Amino acid sequence: MNKLSNNKNSTDISTHEGYEFSQKHLLGLSDYSAQDIQYVLDQAVSFREILNRPVPKVPTLRDKTIVNLFYENSTRTRLSFELAQRRMGADVVNFSAGTSSTKKGESLKDTIRNISSMKIDMVVVRHESPGVAHFLTQCVDAAILNAGDGAHEHPTQALLDLFTIQQVHGSIKGAKIAIIGDITNSRVVRSNIIGLKKLGAEVVLCGPKTLMPKFIDQMGVGISYNLEECLKWCDMAMALRIQLERQDRGTEFFPSLREYHENFGIKLEHLERYPDFKVMHPGPINRGVEMESEVADHERAIILDQVTNGVAVRMAILYLLSGGTRI
Ligand code: NCD
Repeated sequence: MNKLSNNKNSTDISTHEGYEFSQKHLLGLSDYSAQDIQYVLDQAVSFREILNRPVPKVPTLRDKTIVNLFYENSTRTRLSFELAQRRMGADVVNFSAGTSSTKKGESLKDTIRNISSMKIDMVVVRHESPGVAHFLTQCVDAAILNAGDGAHEHPTQALLDLFTIQQVHGSIKGAKIAIIGDITNSRVVRSNIIGLKKLGAEVVLCGPKTLMPKFIDQMGVGISYNLEECLKWCDMAMALRIQLERQDRGTEFFPSLREYHENFGIKLEHLERYPDFKVMHPGPINRGVEMESEVADHERAIILDQVTNGVAVRMAILYLLSGGTRI
């Protein structure tokens, strides 16, 4: 299987000595160096410990005001960001497009300018259009965090995935990661490939040919159309949701969801046959499509650890972008 992964660009980072985190925004992992990423992950370790305390709160963002700007549906990411902000004592304002003046025709630029004149320090934004987070950096002075822009990037999801891999597998360098499913429509996969490659993991993508973008191998990943082969090889199998909302009920690119599950769904029999790999998923899961329901609830599924770690990782990045130095 090694021949499948064409892995270049790995970096060895063992120390942060002399390093200073100088990022102002988090638009995507493509703007972050391997060291920036590792620095955020190392910072997240302290916040993960804080989350285990009887009172899981620190006053580090007490003087900050943050607006969460969600133009697309979200459960996990939005709750996770909000929890991270409140656990650090920030003042939090939530904006959701469905109940705002967006419905009255207000442009994104006007909305953000109005919000900004209320003295906001940070903006977390999710939007269906790629590039929106970047656009906002040109409209306001606040730090911008991308919580998912179309099929472009979802950097905090990748950071929490990297953190979880590091925690469960011991290290990201050399870890064998199979990412399975709707590669074309996924912003999670793009951010993950960038982060995983920068930190030296081996990555193989797996899914139907129709959901595999042309030239994706130029990102230094292997490609496989054989689930069995991937599961035998990998340390982590990261299943991606079939993005039904971005397709015609998901069946535009393959004959039926049942056939997709037959060929690319992770099943209990796989867990039995290959005893080593762990199962990840960014959520929300389509049970019975990306994996059998029993697999999602299996002890080798670390999906809920991903969710817990998401709060710690978001605390870390919010803290660093607010000007905090490492604790
Ligand atoms: C992902 C997203 O919104 O991109 N979910 C998430 O943030 N937890 C993946 C998805 O929707 O499939």
